[in-house]
Amino acid sequence: MAHPSETDAVILVGGRGTRLRPLTVNTPKPMLSTAGYPFLQHLLARIKAAGITHVVMGTSYRAEVFEEYFGDGSELGLEIEYVVEEEALGTGGGIRNVHDRLRHDTVMVFNGDVLCNTDLVGILDTHRSKEADLTMHLVRVPDPRAFGCVPTDDEGRVLEFLEKTEDPPTDQINAGCYVFRRELIAEIPSGRVVSVERETFPQFLTDGKRVFGHVDAAYWRDMGRPDDFVRGSSDLVRGIAHSPLLEGRTGEALVDESAGVAGGVILVGGTSVGRGTEIGAGSRLDDTVVFDGVTIEPGAVIEDSIIAAGATIGANARITGCVIGEGAHIGARCELQGGLRVWPGVNIPDNGVRFSSDA
Ligand code: GDD
Ligand code: MG
Repeated sequence: MAHPSETDAVILVGGRGTRLRPLTVNTPKPMLSTAGYPFLQHLLARIKAAGITHVVMGTSYRAEVFEEYFGDGSELGLEIEYVVEEEALGTGGGIRNVHDRLRHDTVMVFNGDVLCNTDLVGILDTHRSKEADLTMHLVRVPDPRAFGCVPTDDEGRVLEFLEKTEDPPTDQINAGCYVFRRELIAEIPSGRVVSVERETFPQFLTDGKRVFGHVDAAYWRDMGRPDDFVRGSSDLVRGIAHSPLLEGRTGEALVDESAGVAGGVILVGGTSVGRGTEIGAGSRLDDTVVFDGVTIEPGAVIEDSIIAAGATIGANARITGCVIGEGAHIGARCELQGGLRVWPGVNIPDNGVRFSSDA
């Protein structure tokens, strides 16, 4: 059976989130605030909405943060358990490591950094109708090289699994959600680092296991890089990506009720503003994520950027496509652009200095 109530969810959240540094220096990637909630909370809400209630998180980097925030999951209507890898075991090792917490024969595994609108029950239905050992959610992307490339045959059977290959034979990629028969998880070697993508999936294919793809065209995004993180958050705010947490509240901007927004401020493009943040008169924020306790002085113009907690942005500063770390200070009239990342606590003095990473 693959009914949601008889399915365990496993979420892999043990990665270091290197591509999102410095945001992930203190906070694991799945806990970064997106559209007003830790990213993981949107995923948990989708899992709950699909009818799955038992969730096991495979944690490693900053493991304690997850349990501190979500506890036993009862407030979300879930039952959450945590399994910590003292040394990160990789994606396959992380899945193997939760095996003794599983209760059902059907196990739905999620990468903890994927935002999508896919109907999870549809993936379970494919798994059941194909009598598969393993079913992978697959999507098409313009540039498959950064992902696991997964060609399938006419029946949807997976032919190959090619992780991050320079010359992908198809634009169809691993979307980071799998349905396993539990026995297969027991076959993953325990107690050592295993990559499910580079080792386990190719082995299953060599062994002739029934591995199928569930392909769809719903919204999909990996949140692992700053530009995708900003876009994903904005798409949630605007309702382009769906979250059960934001029903009836989508629009051009999402502002925490404790934030102070002065007159004449323009907030557009899915901008979100966190708790206790203050935005001065005449500022314009477009497609930007502002965490908690940020101060933005009057007249600042910020686009396509992430401003971490406690940062201060001086008057009339212009910031485009940048990541501003926790507690950093950007002086008045500074211009920052082109993917620049300002490390936590760094102080950039006033007066129109231009910084650009692509200068
Ligand atoms: N528990 C645990 N232990 N989790 C881990 C570990 C580990 O050692 N390493 C990574 N993870 C978690 C990360 O926290 C993340 O949620 C997930 O596994 C995937 O890791 P990423 O680092 O984000 O991988 P990726 O985006 O480069 O590639 C993966 O996702 C793509 C889709 O977004 C692969 O699965 C690709 O094949 C796939 O296309
Ligand atoms: Mg990823």
